[in-house]
Amino acid sequence: MCGIVAYLGERQAYPILINGLYRLEYRGYDSAGIAIINGNLNLYKRKGKVSDLEEFVKGKDIKGTIGIAHTRWATHGEPTDENAHPHFSQSHNLSIIHNGIIENYKTLKEELIRRGYVFNSQTDTEVLIHLIEDIMKNEEVDLIEAVRIALNQVVGAYAIAVIAKDNRDLMIAARKGSPLVVGIGKDEFLVASDATPIVEHTKKVIYLEDEEMAILRRGKEIELKTIKNINITPYIQELEISLDALEKGGFDHFMLKEIFEQPHSVSESMRGRLYPQKGIVTLGGIFNYEQKILNARRIIMIACGTSWHAALVGEYLLEELMRVPVEVEYASEFRYRNPVIYEDDVVIAISQSGETADTLAAIKMAKSKGATVLGICNVVGSSIARETHAGSYTHAGPEIGVASTKAFTAQVTVLTMMAIRLAFVKGTISNTEHQLFLDELGKIPAKIEEALLTNDLVEKIADVYKNARNFLYLGRGINFPVALEGALKLKEISYIHAEGYPAAEMKHGPIALIDEEMPVVVIAPRKGNYEKVVSNIEEVKARKGKIIAVVTKGDSQVRYLADYIIEIPETDEIFTPLLATVPLQLLAYHIAVKRNCNVDQPRNLAKSVTVE
Ligand code: G6P
Repeated sequence: MCGIVAYLGERQAYPILINGLYRLEYRGYDSAGIAIINGNLNLYKRKGKVSDLEEFVKGKDIKGTIGIAHTRWATHGEPTDENAHPHFSQSHNLSIIHNGIIENYKTLKEELIRRGYVFNSQTDTEVLIHLIEDIMKNEEVDLIEAVRIALNQVVGAYAIAVIAKDNRDLMIAARKGSPLVVGIGKDEFLVASDATPIVEHTKKVIYLEDEEMAILRRGKEIELKTIKNINITPYIQELEISLDALEKGGFDHFMLKEIFEQPHSVSESMRGRLYPQKGIVTLGGIFNYEQKILNARRIIMIACGTSWHAALVGEYLLEELMRVPVEVEYASEFRYRNPVIYEDDVVIAISQSGETADTLAAIKMAKSKGATVLGICNVVGSSIARETHAGSYTHAGPEIGVASTKAFTAQVTVLTMMAIRLAFVKGTISNTEHQLFLDELGKIPAKIEEALLTNDLVEKIADVYKNARNFLYLGRGINFPVALEGALKLKEISYIHAEGYPAAEMKHGPIALIDEEMPVVVIAPRKGNYEKVVSNIEEVKARKGKIIAVVTKGDSQVRYLADYIIEIPETDEIFTPLLATVPLQLLAYHIAVKRNCNVDQPRNLAKSVTVE
């Protein structure tokens, strides 16, 4: 949600910043802007994509070795040129980029207006830069001190970078609630919302903690302190992501690349954890918490979006294998409804980005009530990964497409390993079952590879149904969340209305929608309530609905009922979500492409939702 990138060093800032904006564009793409000091403080911003900004600055003065840049996902004020970042202070001496929300901006704004400040945008951010300038003037302090004082007056979340026209050697960055990383290169600094714009320049980074400020001076070492003025010793970490992971690698879209990466990403999730031949599955990150989980009164999973669907699969897995009560909650609901949480509850937070504001807030609340909180995150070093007591990374690699694909299957893989391991230690599955599960899990990457072979067929099906106005997705048991996820993918990127339903629940409402126009996607693998799903398919057919069924290879019954069948390899029921999800991702992708939708950057969405 909004991406920020900034540069201070020996090289020209513009190429680094514009390239950084492209890398961050998945975080927000309704407007973009850049400010660079070259004697003047030159500021250019535009409604639209980064490419519109690039076009706009052609022929303008973009020289300079210090600059800040921003790609926006609107919260306060529509996407317009004026509301785009960076923002100037009243005198045009200072400029700021900001990701987050200043919650008390109205009060601050009223006060500033009273003092003669004029606002050019509807953003909460402009309040902050006027406030900083006001403090500099009235309290006669330097920029660093003014930023520090201002941040003490602000309620809300921020990741900011500030520069001043008369000092091309200084940049100040700070964070609270929104992520911020500082890259340390040779005689240069980069500041960004995440490591993606940094990795091609340096692998050495510092992740700022909440209420920390970085003071970056040309040719000097980084200085870190809190907004309460306590000095901090910088902790420099080495990035592990590679540049290749951030490129499209010959695919038309990041989403397609990420769908096709799943045999690899799922293997990566298992690497160093699953050893079928030795009869071992273990998650090192939560090893010390195993007894805590086994003794838990219940497990509560919290997440948003696609991660919430992974949690629903996790609920099925943990209850089925471990025989423990599991509740799955939307983080946004959980945090605001004063839930009953016991000290012997274990909360598992699931998040691709590790930055989702609602999930983060729910974690803090659960911790404050004494629960043990574990995380399943994809982004290493993210806020959620750091806020939880322990956890397991999904290791799917950077996911750039806004619609989550490989992160979902990696989350489900981690949950599957967790369920098998804990059930084994608890004794709720036998040694034989344990070994069978490990053997089968080891074969899943190859089976995903096979599921991907349905791509051409799925593209043909997409062509047939690309103009449908509604879609229904049905599944039962562990594949009900897969139906939800299939429907979400289609909604997100093709803007076709789609609903996921438990197949049996269809007759309590959605059945009224079914006519000859209505495509119904049914997940009907041979294992798990197969006969029941077949009956549900009959019900759809009786009302002339069109059936697209995901079935197990060699299926004998559904093929005679369905308009189209998509075959996935045979596997144990608990692993079917890892295979059945794949053709549904492809279906959403191809329909969106055929409808000329922007697959990687669907309208109104953002990859990392750092506002509540
Ligand atoms: C946004 C993204 C979704 C994602 C959700 C939760 O809505 O567009 O793809 O599932 O946030 O994000 P998280 O990073 O916490 O998994």
